[in-house]
Amino acid sequence: MRTIHTTQDGTVDAGSVDELVERGRLTTKVGSVPVVVFWHDDRPWAVEDRCPHLGFPLHQGTVGQGMVTCHWHHARFDLSSGCTFDPWADDVRAFPVHVDGGRVMVSPGDNSVRTDVLRRRLREGLEENLTLVLAKSTLGLLDAGVAPAEIVSIGARFGLENRRGGWGAGLTVLTAMANIVDDLDADTRPLALLQGLRFVANDTEGHPTRFPLSPMSGSTADGEQLASWYRSLVDSRSADAAERALATAASGGASPEQVEAMLFAAATDHVFVDEGHTVDFVNKALELMAHVGRDEAPLVLSSLVGQMAAASRSEELSAWRHPVDLTALIAEHVEMVGKAMQNRDRLAAPEFAVRGLADGLLADDAADVMAAMAAAVDAGATPEELGRAVAMAAALRIVRFHTASDHQDWNVVHHGFTTANATHQALARHPTPELLRGVLHGAMKVHLDRFLNVPAARLPSGQSGSLAELAECWDEQGHVDRAGELAWGYQVQGGDPAALVAALGRGLLSEDAGFHWFQLYEAAVQQWRAWPPDSDEARLVLVAAARFLAAHTPTRRERSRVVDIARRLRRGEALYEDVGAAG
Ligand code: FES
Repeated sequence: MRTIHTTQDGTVDAGSVDELVERGRLTTKVGSVPVVVFWHDDRPWAVEDRCPHLGFPLHQGTVGQGMVTCHWHHARFDLSSGCTFDPWADDVRAFPVHVDGGRVMVSPGDNSVRTDVLRRRLREGLEENLTLVLAKSTLGLLDAGVAPAEIVSIGARFGLENRRGGWGAGLTVLTAMANIVDDLDADTRPLALLQGLRFVANDTEGHPTRFPLSPMSGSTADGEQLASWYRSLVDSRSADAAERALATAASGGASPEQVEAMLFAAATDHVFVDEGHTVDFVNKALELMAHVGRDEAPLVLSSLVGQMAAASRSEELSAWRHPVDLTALIAEHVEMVGKAMQNRDRLAAPEFAVRGLADGLLADDAADVMAAMAAAVDAGATPEELGRAVAMAAALRIVRFHTASDHQDWNVVHHGFTTANATHQALARHPTPELLRGVLHGAMKVHLDRFLNVPAARLPSGQSGSLAELAECWDEQGHVDRAGELAWGYQVQGGDPAALVAALGRGLLSEDAGFHWFQLYEAAVQQWRAWPPDSDEARLVLVAAARFLAAHTPTRRERSRVVDIARRLRRGEALYEDVGAAG
């Protein structure tokens, strides 16, 4: 084997010019990276000797007209920059090369420039919706030490600017994955970011750019006035007018707390708006700002208005009006929110029985549900506890969802749980009387879903279970109850619940999962965090996540395969040999 001479700055001697001219190409290594040097137009050119598409050796390619063409899928690359003519293939890394005393010298180049290239490629992957490019740039940026929050920011800004309809599934999944990325195993984290980015790319593909409206310059309206305008304009579905009021509030006309309060007030002025998506989207948008910073507030908040103004209102749906008028029942009890607000700062009182209320919310009669809620408020329940109880009741609907039900009905119980979780997160952050109405809406939604627990699946009682056995449940359809038993058994026998959270995340992210799956998993993780460690309630929300996941797996798992390919390309593995052998 030829010895490679390397100077202190990492420059390598690739061979003599005479040899290069005679053979047309030389191969060498810069650090651990294989490099090919071509002789073309009377000078040397150096690029990585792995096609960025699937790793075919470029020294086997054809050079002409200042470009090298890969012989596998015929991607073409500019020899001077490494930029590809075929965006699906990604750019190849180019290296500075010069001749010194008849020797061909290749230098590593500036790594910070490489990081900028990866950022640009990430944006191009979003523009062109190229999963492999997204995977490779994400892995490359993480390896270069770029924080996940910066990757989330790039994806979020792209999603916010490039979808006329504003906030949607893409930004929801991206934010959800940003929220839970630290709960995952290190090797699963890139996949979480990739899934979020891919949803953003899908959500924006073919959409025109969004231009947020500017604030009303010179307006002297205060936060209260702006909130009042915003609510009435959303109520009358005047999206543009509402957006100007919100933009004025977000640009300094109101405090961040007032802006949050007005958004949730408008989202709960009607009952269970857009099957709960509106409350969830508002909450996610506010959570996103914790990742990308408050400077992005005008762009983030304006994205919410169109969906909110157009959203369906459940009081218009017959299921909420007949045979029992649930919206009237909510209206009759709405004054309890003021009393619940007075419990907000309750300290040193006996711990309120949140689980007891959750069980009470599963009553067959809607009036009994409201009575349970009223009794809890009288007993001193705080807004946070009320929100957590509704989320627990909604989780129990999933735990007890019977597999004899229509498969589509998993979406029904999903909506109840994820909306209850969003309401709970918001109440824990910044409770208001208006937002507390969302607790009553959530309780009635859980009540409406009671038929999906008839018959009810048995509560899990397993005494053992391993993560390996649980993972087997994702490989074959029909293991819903088994997955719940194993998730429960694993925990009661002393298994580390954080490892279970990571394992559920790995299961989710390995699949070609749909929008609702990401929402449900993230909601389960947030609720798991809200309960004392090792409590039955914390265990049950993870059982709910395990059952939901098992109800939808397996899929073709193509997205995780792309990340696997990207990872192997980065490690320099010869994918083309595998495919050649398979062929
Ligand atoms: S084009 Fe080079 S490996 Fe596919």
